[in-house]
Amino acid sequence: MCGIVGYVGNKQAAPVLMGGLRKLEYRGYDSAGVCIQNGRLTTVRSEGKIAALDLKLAKHHLQGTSGIAHTRWATHGVPEERNAHPHRDCSGSVAVVHNGIIENFLELREELTGKGHIFHSDTDSEVLAHLIEHEMEAGLPALQAIRASLACVRGTYGLVVIFKDLPQTLFTARMGSPLVIGIGDGEHYIASDPSAIIEHTRDVMFLDDGEIACVSSEGITLCALDREDVPHRIQHLDWEVETASRGEHAHFMLKEIMEQPQVIENSIRGRVDLIGGRAVLGGLDDVRDRLKEIDRIVIVGCGSAYYAGLVGEYLIEELAGISVEVELASEFRYRKPIITERTAVLAVSQSGETADTLEAIVEAKRKRALTLGLVNTVGSSIARATDAGVYNHAGPEIGVASTKAFVSQMTVLSLIAVYLGQLRGFLPESKAREVLAGLHEMPELVEKVLANRGQVTRVAEKYRGMENCLFLGRKYQAPIAYEGALKLKEVSYIHAEGYSSGEMKHGPIALIDKSFPSIVLCPQDSVYEKTCSNISELRARKGPIIAVTTCGSMSHVQADDVIIVPHTMEALQPILTVIPLQLIAYEAAVARGLDPDKPRNLAKSVTVE
Ligand code: G6P
Repeated sequence: MCGIVGYVGNKQAAPVLMGGLRKLEYRGYDSAGVCIQNGRLTTVRSEGKIAALDLKLAKHHLQGTSGIAHTRWATHGVPEERNAHPHRDCSGSVAVVHNGIIENFLELREELTGKGHIFHSDTDSEVLAHLIEHEMEAGLPALQAIRASLACVRGTYGLVVIFKDLPQTLFTARMGSPLVIGIGDGEHYIASDPSAIIEHTRDVMFLDDGEIACVSSEGITLCALDREDVPHRIQHLDWEVETASRGEHAHFMLKEIMEQPQVIENSIRGRVDLIGGRAVLGGLDDVRDRLKEIDRIVIVGCGSAYYAGLVGEYLIEELAGISVEVELASEFRYRKPIITERTAVLAVSQSGETADTLEAIVEAKRKRALTLGLVNTVGSSIARATDAGVYNHAGPEIGVASTKAFVSQMTVLSLIAVYLGQLRGFLPESKAREVLAGLHEMPELVEKVLANRGQVTRVAEKYRGMENCLFLGRKYQAPIAYEGALKLKEVSYIHAEGYSSGEMKHGPIALIDKSFPSIVLCPQDSVYEKTCSNISELRARKGPIIAVTTCGSMSHVQADDVIIVPHTMEALQPILTVIPLQLIAYEAAVARGLDPDKPRNLAKSVTVE
C-alpha cells in the first residue's frame, strides 16, 4: 500500500519520479507528492490522483537531480494535502516518504511535541522526519540519526530519506514493507515495487528487513540496524517493459483480462512435459523429500488469492490425495492452528507482500512447517521467506482487481496438484496426462472465450441498472462464484454476494425477486444437474438467471441469458468460467463511468494488517 520512488543521478529527478509514481498509482491514490533536492528541499504535494499533482507541478518547474516521491493510501489521517508525503521536519532539512505503520507514533509525537517539534499532519509517518531531525540536532551524522530514530519506532516501514545538506544522496530502510534499489549507470533508483523502475534498469537489489542503504549516484553502501557491511545481492529481472503499460487498451484491467492466454502460456512454459507425462516444477524439487512426508497442506491467502486457494483445495485433494485446508491469512495466526513438521503451508499471493499472508508464513515457520510460496512478484518478501515455491510468471499485474494473476494461480495450482500426485504415487498416469493435455490446450480455449466477448457485453448492457447480484456455483465452481461477486463489487460498487449453490436455500434465496439477478456457474460437470435444479428454484421465485455454461443447448426456459464457454475437464473448468465474470465486472464499472483500475478505497498491495 502506498508507492515510493526515489532517484539520484544525472537526469532531472522530477520527470523520473513522476513516471515512477504513475506506475505505482495502483498502490494507492488518495494523495501524492514529490520533494527535490536543489540546495534546499522543495516539496509539491496534492490531494487525489497523480494527475492532480501533475497539474500542480506544471507551475513549479522543479530543477534538481535527486528526489523522492510518494502516492498514498490513507491509514492515519484523511486524504488531504497536509497528510500527503513527503513529510518534513521543522527546519526543512529532512524529508521522508514512508510506507507501513508506525504503531507507537502517538507516544513519539507527544514526546517530540514536548521538545518543541511542531507537526503539520495527522500521519504516523511525520514522526520519522522529526525523530531524524532530533537525532541530528543531538550531533549524529545522517546514517546514525536514521538508525537511532528507527531504534525508537515500533511497526513497519519502507522509508526513503533526503537531506537538504547532503546533495546526491538518499537513505532507504526497510522493515516489513518492500523496497528495491535499481542500479543504473551513474544513477540509482529506489522504489517500493520494481514496476516503477524497470523501464530504466532491470539490475536491482531488494532490501531485507532491518537493512539500511545509503544510495548516491556513485554507489550503494549497505548496512543493517545492528551491523555494518552487509553484502550486495544484485539480481537481474527479466520482465518485459511493455507488460507494465496499458498498450492499446482503455484500462489495465481489460488489458490483463485480454492477455490471459499468453499469461497461461507463460505460467506453464517448461512445466508441462507432455511426452513424459509429468509436471515439471524445479522450484519444488529441493524439498521433494519433505513433500513426500507431509500429511496435510494449509493454503493461506487474501482476497482473490484465497479464492484461488479454494480451487487449489479441490485440485490437490482430487489429484494428490492430500488433505487440504484453506485459511484466510488474516485469521490464520489468530487461531491456534495445528501445524506440525508434516504440514506444508502454501502462501498464494500475487504481490508476495500482503502483510497478513507474510505473517502467516512467519507463524508457520515458527511451528517448523514446510513453507511454500505461489507468488507472482519475483524477489518479493513471501518468495524470499518461504522454503521453496513456484512463480506465476504472469508479469506485473497493475489493475487493482486481480484477473490474470488469479487465472495463473489456478493454472499453477493444477500443476502443483499433478506434481504432488506423481511424487506420492497417487495420481494414475492417464489422469496426469489428461490434466497436462488440458493445460496445454488452455490458452487456445481462453482465446475462444475472449473472442466471444460480445455475448458478455450484451449481458452487461442488459443488466447495467442492477443494484444487487447473487453469484452461485458448486464444487470447483463455488470459489468462482465468490471471485465473481468480489470482482463485481470491487470495481462497479454493485452489491454482490458469492455463495455455494448448495447454501442458496439456507438464506440467500430470501433475497430473490424479479429485480435480483443471479449469475449461476453451471458447466456440464459432475454437479451440473444439481445446479440446474437450483436454477429452477430461483426461477420459481422470478429471479432473473444468467447462466455461464458449456452447454450450447441450454434452453432459455432455464435461463434468461446464457454465456457459453468451451468445455474442458472439471478440474480445469474454473479457468474458463471466471473470464466472463471478470468481463461482466469490467463492463459494469465502465458503464457506470467508474475507473476499474482504481476502485475507491482499495489498493493493490495490502501491506498493513
Ligand atoms: C488486494 C487486491 C486483490 C488481491 C489481494 C491479495 O485486496 O486488491 O486483488 O487478491 O489484495 O493480494 P496478493 O498480492 O497477496 O495476491
